[in-house]
Amino acid sequence: MNQVTKAVFPVAGLGTRFLPATKANPKEMLPIVDKPLIQYAAEEAIAAGIDELIFVTGRNKRSIEDHFDKAYELEVQLEADGKKDLLGMVQNVLPNSASCVYIRQAEALGLGHAVLCAKQVVGNDPFAVILADDLISAAPGALKQMVDLYIRHQSSVIGVQTIPREATRSYGIVKGIPAGDRLYKVESIVEKPAPEKAPSTLAVVGRYILTPRIFGLLESVQPGAGGEIQLTDGIAALLSHEQVLAYEFSGKRYDCGNKFGYLQATVEYALAHPELKDQFLIYLKGLKL
Ligand code: G1P
Repeated sequence: MNQVTKAVFPVAGLGTRFLPATKANPKEMLPIVDKPLIQYAAEEAIAAGIDELIFVTGRNKRSIEDHFDKAYELEVQLEADGKKDLLGMVQNVLPNSASCVYIRQAEALGLGHAVLCAKQVVGNDPFAVILADDLISAAPGALKQMVDLYIRHQSSVIGVQTIPREATRSYGIVKGIPAGDRLYKVESIVEKPAPEKAPSTLAVVGRYILTPRIFGLLESVQPGAGGEIQLTDGIAALLSHEQVLAYEFSGKRYDCGNKFGYLQATVEYALAHPELKDQFLIYLKGLKL
């Protein structure tokens, strides 16, 4: 049986919604309390059994590589200062069993193109795609829930959630027929339709498990919504070859690709943070709103 051991993290986007914070720093390095978004995504992947992390990067993304690399000077300093806890934290950003691969996407031609850049590294295996700006708080993690489904059904699985109809222009939208608890068999999928044209209000969030057949199909996908090569269009092509499932994972998703979602995540993660929660709650209650 095919296991899912590889995850692709497309991180070459420009992060224009967070300028100027993202002028020289990738949006995936923005912290939620004390961890960058990309680390939450990597931890979710590892908890799902992934051990090969494939980052599709672009210019200005070096800090992501540095984040997952050894930090010699910092480690020597923390050791010398006897700061064992912090040293452990810095050394265990990823478990030793995990390996990282970095692929450069020279031009930001779209999410489908970014995934296609990982073709050689992924090879002929099923793989996950994680969009780090969709932060999902769930236990077990959203990707783990989806991997379990993949193992059971041996077909691609897309993470979805119901959104208000007026928001369809921001998402891939799935039309599916119910196929079990929270599960749908995808009949069609369309990228960013207008509300009146959307086939449903089931929206794709940034978690996918895909079979490698998607690569050959992405090679012939033409630019779609926004003039970009869309992963959604590759999945639409996959539907004429294979079953694709959509799964309404359980958990809460924060859209950290925009400022409001980012702030919601920051507040809620702070309220759950062991060191901060009590003090932060008192502070919030004391605000004269
Ligand atoms: C991408 C995908 C879209 C998906 C969304 C989830 O869009 O193209 O299908 O619904 O992520 O966050 P983006 O947000 O990059 O425009």
